[in-house]
Amino acid sequence: MGAQQVAERFTELYGARPEGVWAAPGRVNLIGEHTDYNDGFVMPFALPHQAVAAVSRRDDGLLRLHSADMEGGVVELRLDALAPGTDSAWTAYPAGVVWALREAGHAITGADVHLSSTVPTGAGLSSSAALEVVIALAFDDLYDLGLARWQLARLCQRAENVYVGAPTGIMDQTASACCAPGHALFLDTRDLSQQQIPFDLAAEGLRLLVVDTQVKHAHSGGEYGKRRAGCEKGAALLGVDALRDIAYADLDAALARLGDEEEIRRLVRHVVTEDERVERTVALLRAGDPRAIGPILTEGHASLRDDFRISCPELDLVVDTALAHGALGSRMTGGGFGGSALILAESSEVPSLTKALEAAFATADFMAPRVFEAVPSAGARRLV
Ligand code: GLA
Repeated sequence: MGAQQVAERFTELYGARPEGVWAAPGRVNLIGEHTDYNDGFVMPFALPHQAVAAVSRRDDGLLRLHSADMEGGVVELRLDALAPGTDSAWTAYPAGVVWALREAGHAITGADVHLSSTVPTGAGLSSSAALEVVIALAFDDLYDLGLARWQLARLCQRAENVYVGAPTGIMDQTASACCAPGHALFLDTRDLSQQQIPFDLAAEGLRLLVVDTQVKHAHSGGEYGKRRAGCEKGAALLGVDALRDIAYADLDAALARLGDEEEIRRLVRHVVTEDERVERTVALLRAGDPRAIGPILTEGHASLRDDFRISCPELDLVVDTALAHGALGSRMTGGGFGGSALILAESSEVPSLTKALEAAFATADFMAPRVFEAVPSAGARRLV
C-alpha cells in the first residue's frame, strides 16, 4: 500500500493528518543461517515488500495502534502499563518497541499509529522485524532521538526477545534497518560492522526466486530456542564465548573434543561451516562471479537439513525440484520449520522452473507455493 493511502486511512481513523509516514522492508537471507546468535556472519538483503506506518505524537501517555491487515479496530494501550509477556497479539511488536525505547530512557509521551504491511507473515521473510523497525524509525524521527540504525536494530531485537518472548538474533532487524537497494548486507553480528556488497543479479542475466511454501512457523515455539541453547552449550564445552570463535581450520579438532555429544557436534558443524560459506560467498560476489555461489547455497541447505535439522518436506521439495530443473543453487532461508526457500537460476530457466515447482507440489499434495522474484531493495526510510 502506498504512503498516501496509509496517510489517508490514518486521517479517517484519528481525525487529523499524520505527522509522517515511514517504511521498513522484510528481508531474504542469502546465506548465513542460525549464525547471528553465535556472533557469526550473515548476508541478507531487503525485499520490496514492506511495512508502512503513519504516526503522530500524543502527549497523554496513550499508544493507539491500528493495522489494515488485522481484524478489530484501534487498540488503545497506556504507556505506563506496557510490560513484557502481557500481549500475545500483533500489537506486541509495535508496543514492544515503544516499551524498549522507554526502557532505554527515551521520553516517549504517546502516539497514534496506523500500519499496513505487504510482507507475508510466517513465511521466514521477517514480517515482524519490518513492523518493529518501522515503529522504531518513526519514533526516532518524531521524538528526535538521534539513534543510529544499529541502535534501532538493537532496540527492536530487545522488543522481540523480551517483550514478545522470541529468542531471535540481530539479523532481521539490522537487515530491515540497514539494507541498500542493489546490495546484500555482509554483517558481522559480533560488532555489527557491515559492508554493502553489490548484488545486481538481473544485470548478470540471473534471478533469485523466493518460494513461500505457506508452511507457517513461529520462533516463539520451542525448536528455535532449543537450537540456540544447543549452540551455547557447544560454545561452553569448547571454552569459547561463541561458536564464531571456532575457526574453520580447527573444526575437526573441535568436533573431536566434543566426543559423544552427537547432537551438539552437528549444531557446531553447521554454524562453523555456515560462517565459512558466508565468507566464500562474499569473496565470489566481490570477484564478480555470482553464478559460482549456487553450489554454496545448496551446501548450506544440506547443512540445515542434516546437521541443524530445521528443514521440512516442502522446503526439501523446493530445493530438489529446483536442482533437478537446472537451478544454479537453492536452499531454505530464515529460521526454518517452514517458511521460504530461495532459488538462484538463469533468467531463461525461470518459466520452466516455476512450472516444475507447481507440478511437484501438486503431485505431493502440498498447498500450492507462492513464487516471486526477489530484487534487493531499500532499507527503512521516511516516505512522507
Ligand atoms: C530468524 C531469526 C534470526 C535468525 C534466523 C536464522 O529469522 O529472527 O535472528 O536467527 O532465524 O538465521
